[in-house]
Formats: sequence, C-alpha cells, structure tokens
Amino acid sequence: MTPGIRPLIAGNWKMNASAREAVDLAQAVRAGATGLAAELLVCPPFPYVAGVCGLMAGSGVAVGGQDCHTAVKGAHTGDVAAAMLKDLGAAYVILGHSERRADHGETDALVRAKAAAAIAAGLVPIVCVGETLAQREAGQAEAVVAAQLSGSLPEGFEAAGGVVAYEPVWAIGTGKVPTEADIAALHAAMRAQLGAKTRLLYGGSMKPSNAQAILALANVDGGLIGGAALVAADFLAIAKAAG
Ligand code: PGA
Repeated sequence: MTPGIRPLIAGNWKMNASAREAVDLAQAVRAGATGLAAELLVCPPFPYVAGVCGLMAGSGVAVGGQDCHTAVKGAHTGDVAAAMLKDLGAAYVILGHSERRADHGETDALVRAKAAAAIAAGLVPIVCVGETLAQREAGQAEAVVAAQLSGSLPEGFEAAGGVVAYEPVWAIGTGKVPTEADIAALHAAMRAQLGAKTRLLYGGSMKPSNAQAILALANVDGGLIGGAALVAADFLAIAKAAG
C-alpha cells in the first residue's frame, strides 16, 4: 500500500460468463461490497456493461470496459468508443492488457492513444504492463516495464487519476506469482518513474490465499484480478485483504 492512496481491487472478467452468469456475479459482488476500505471495480465484456452498470448503480462498485478505440466515433466495425462506455456509467477502462497486446498486436503507441482517448472521454485508464518469462529470466523485467510505461502513458495520465497494472505475462492465469521481493522491487521502480499519486496494481494469479501478502507490499495499491474475479466470494475475499 501507499499511504494516502485508496486501494483499488479490479475484476477483469475477460471473455467469460453468459448473460445470466454476469447478472448473478454482479449481484453477488454488489451484495458483499459493504464496509470495504478498498474501491471495487468490475470490468465485464462489452455486451454486459450496460446491464452491470444498472445493477451496480448506487452501490459504490465501479464498472469499467476492457478496451476502447482511439477515435471518438466512426467507421470502426466491432470497436467501442470511450464515450460510449462513459455514457453507460462506466468509470474505468482497462487498456493494453497483455492479451490484447498479443492477440491484437497492440503497441505502446496505440495504448497511449487509447489512454488519451479514454481521458478525453472522462474515463480513468488502467494501463497494463509486464514482462514475458524470457525477459524476466534475462534480467530485463524492470527495463521492459520502464519502456512500456514511457511509451504507453499519455500526457495528463497522473492528473486524470490514471492507474497502472503490473502484470507479468507469465503469471497471468498460470498460478505462478513472482516473489514478494520481485513484486516490491518492480513496484518501487514504477513509483520512482511515475510519481506519488498513481495507483499501482499488481495482477497475475492473485487469489485469496496470496492477496494479503501482496497487498501489504509497499507501492502495491491494489490488484487486477482475472480468474478469481469470476467467483464472487474469492473476489470479495481479495477485496477484504486490502483492508
Ligand atoms: P489472472 O488474470 O488473475 O487470471 O491471472 C489477471 C489479468 O490478466 O488481469
């Protein structure tokens, strides 16, 4: 944690859940989201954003998208504009997740343009960075992340409340987690690069059994949760571990 920064526990549902399951999950998260020190966020697939925004209204649980386009509107079949998410009541958007960098060839420059579009639309961007296993084994993790940060964050990111999620690619969905010392070192480096106010999340196989230790580390201001965010009890247990 960082003194003075409210922790953020963000659920990235990825491309999961039927319409019915999305409603059930949102309702269960809402029901358990009382008396928490951390801010809670759920990021459903696009088709469910409107419904989940409705279900979360007045609960204090924020809703976000998992991507947005750089343009305000136009001929971009299949894409979603930041303003559309904002219009529905979303507050955040995840950008540059490693799955999008891999599946869709997203570059730092594209992520930066998307983050600028999100800020312009009034959304808070959550920009994801993280090294591959080969890069970590080559001792390049901090350098890779530093370069991703300098390439992916637009002007005004910190002032807009921008969030960074450090997600080692090799830890996502694998059950593998870096050592606490490695997470702390990486987050300290990000803090030195970014300044005092940016919330720095850890993501990658976070679960109730490891959340408390990870969230207790200096400069870890919350988590971006994938698999465990699909089980309301697990997601809420992680949120409780944030204090
Ligand atoms: P995981 O995913 O928790 O399933 O590892 C995290 C993420 O990709 O955001």
